[in-house]
Amino acid sequence: MSEPILQVENLVTGFDTDAGRVVAVDGVSFTVPKGKTLGIVGESGCGKSVTAFSITRLLPQPHGKILGGSIRFENRDLVTLSPEEMRKVRGNDISMIFQEPMTALNPVQTIGKQLCEAVLLHQPGIEPREALSRSLEMLNKVRIPAAEQRLNEYPHQLSGGMRQRVMIAMALINTPKLLIADEPTTALDVTVQAQILELIRDMQQDLGMSVILITHDLGVIAEVCDEVIVMYAGRIVERGPVSEIFAKPLHPYTQGLIQCLPKLDHPPKTPLPVIPGMVPSLAEMPKGCRFAPRCPNKHSDDVLSQRQPWKECGHDHGVEACACFAQQLSAS
Ligand SMILES: Nc1ncnc2c1ncn2[C@@H]1O[C@H](COP(=O)(O)OP(=O)(O)OP(=O)(O)O)[C@@H](O)[C@H]1O
Ligand SMILES: [Mg+2]
Repeated sequence: MSEPILQVENLVTGFDTDAGRVVAVDGVSFTVPKGKTLGIVGESGCGKSVTAFSITRLLPQPHGKILGGSIRFENRDLVTLSPEEMRKVRGNDISMIFQEPMTALNPVQTIGKQLCEAVLLHQPGIEPREALSRSLEMLNKVRIPAAEQRLNEYPHQLSGGMRQRVMIAMALINTPKLLIADEPTTALDVTVQAQILELIRDMQQDLGMSVILITHDLGVIAEVCDEVIVMYAGRIVERGPVSEIFAKPLHPYTQGLIQCLPKLDHPPKTPLPVIPGMVPSLAEMPKGCRFAPRCPNKHSDDVLSQRQPWKECGHDHGVEACACFAQQLSAS
């Protein structure tokens, strides 16, 4: 594996709610190799966004808190940085894009003004004219047609796909080392989705940056990512190179997600397979294997009561080896 740009070690993140503290990310560890794309996949509520907001320190305040662990980025622990230092890291070194571009774009400012401000904020010495030409160059890079004219337009004058491109331009204008894209294409129709994914992939190669791509869609992971972590109920259940995870999924949850992918030979007008049941609520997490209540395999009671051990299975492939299938692993 190449040198990591980000190392997350035993991250625990929670929220203080009226009903007490809930833990949304519970002991998550992973690394992002330099210049590679790591996918984070899992159903809704598994803790993907909370992991991203922990890294960027954008957790909702005052309720969201990092309760433990470390997030090392270029030999600094982001968890202990002051808000001021963290602001410099965000936008300069680490950028984030979201599902809904309007959350990041200002509706009452022109695209040009917003892009220029992003440049000037992080590179105060730069001439405004230079910032403007950088903005134009960036709009061209993300393949916005009639870019010069767009500089004077407002976000509402653009289509959803174009707005997403502007947000990507804004996130990349200071050439970050790490881009975190949280469901960047979920709100878009399929053709635009494919174009945006291709754009992220091209920009990643062009700028040599590292990317964390968050999605609930394994199809997207297969298209764009080098490695993937599979999250379930606030924990990582499996991690590995994408080709390996698709060829040899080990955890029953990963297997379930792969089985649910739509297939071309699926008979028309018949229901697509689903994983029965739901992600457990944060207040009622099983102590042991969190997937056990939905798992098709037979398991004993202690699988529910004890956290299952992590097992490395070669080729950077690792899995939370629940007793219900661990025997098969040692046999293979
Ligand atoms: N502000 C908050 N207060 C309390 N709980 C929260 C808050 N934000 C998120 N959570 C809880 O944390 C858990 C993880 O949420 P998260 O948003 O990370 O899920 P996700 O994997 O990104 O899901 P999705 O695919 O729907 O975006 C969920 O159970 C969610 O209800
Ligand atoms: Mg999310």
